[in-house]
Amino acid sequence: MSVESKVRAVTTATLAQMKQTGEKIAMLTSYDYTMAKIVDGAGIDIILVGDSAANVMAGYTTTLPITLDEMIYHAKSVVRGVERAFVVVDMPFGTCSGNVEVALEAAIRIMKESGADGVKIEGGEEMLPSIRKIIAAGIPVMGHLGLTPQSIHQLGGYGLRAKEEAEAEKLLKDAKLLAEAGCFALVMEKIPAPLAAKVTKEIAIPTIGIGAGAECDGQVLVVHDMLGMNKGFKPKFLRRYANLHEVMTEAVEHYISDVRQGEYPNADEQWS
Ligand code: KIV
Repeated sequence: MSVESKVRAVTTATLAQMKQTGEKIAMLTSYDYTMAKIVDGAGIDIILVGDSAANVMAGYTTTLPITLDEMIYHAKSVVRGVERAFVVVDMPFGTCSGNVEVALEAAIRIMKESGADGVKIEGGEEMLPSIRKIIAAGIPVMGHLGLTPQSIHQLGGYGLRAKEEAEAEKLLKDAKLLAEAGCFALVMEKIPAPLAAKVTKEIAIPTIGIGAGAECDGQVLVVHDMLGMNKGFKPKFLRRYANLHEVMTEAVEHYISDVRQGEYPNADEQWS
């Protein structure tokens, strides 16, 4: 079922202009209406409905299990909460690695059923046939290079990528190919800062880093991580802007105690 599609204030043209003028781009993930409304209301430029929903919303250890239907459900919930930001949705694992018609059909479903503004695809040269097909259909595509969590079983871990010359050269080549193919932006995850800076200088589209240093055109974090909701996860690149795990735990403990002691509800919190 399709939803009404509207053009929000931040568009691919806005993002291209921000690269031109050197204005940094702020991007965060969201997976539901309430969080998206808060993140958008605070003035974020891009909201990513990431397949990291598989981890933070569903509790899987990798991003592989999340389905296209589940991504569309999250994207629909986010879009209902967003007025201003550009909303981009991850194409889930498996949708872009085979038949280009299957990839196009999945991208069209995301756009039609959620009302999002674009899709993100992990991978370089090997993904170009699908990326070209989707862009030709009028759908904005964001690339994603470096640590690509959908390939975790091939990569063998979540460590820093492109430390060696050969992988760094391939990443730069892939970045240029994605930009030439018409991607509107590129996420670079967990790569050395000097390499990310070089890519940022050499391609015309905005680069958005996560663990890729300060020279990228913008930054992205998983919202649950930067809000400190996930107690155990503290990679080097993560800055926590709040400690919601502690705040929420204290609030829940306080509520439990009030209920048990008969202190909630009080006289003002009920009808006589
Ligand atoms: O799924 C996700 O949250 C992502 C970001 C880490 C860039 O792809």
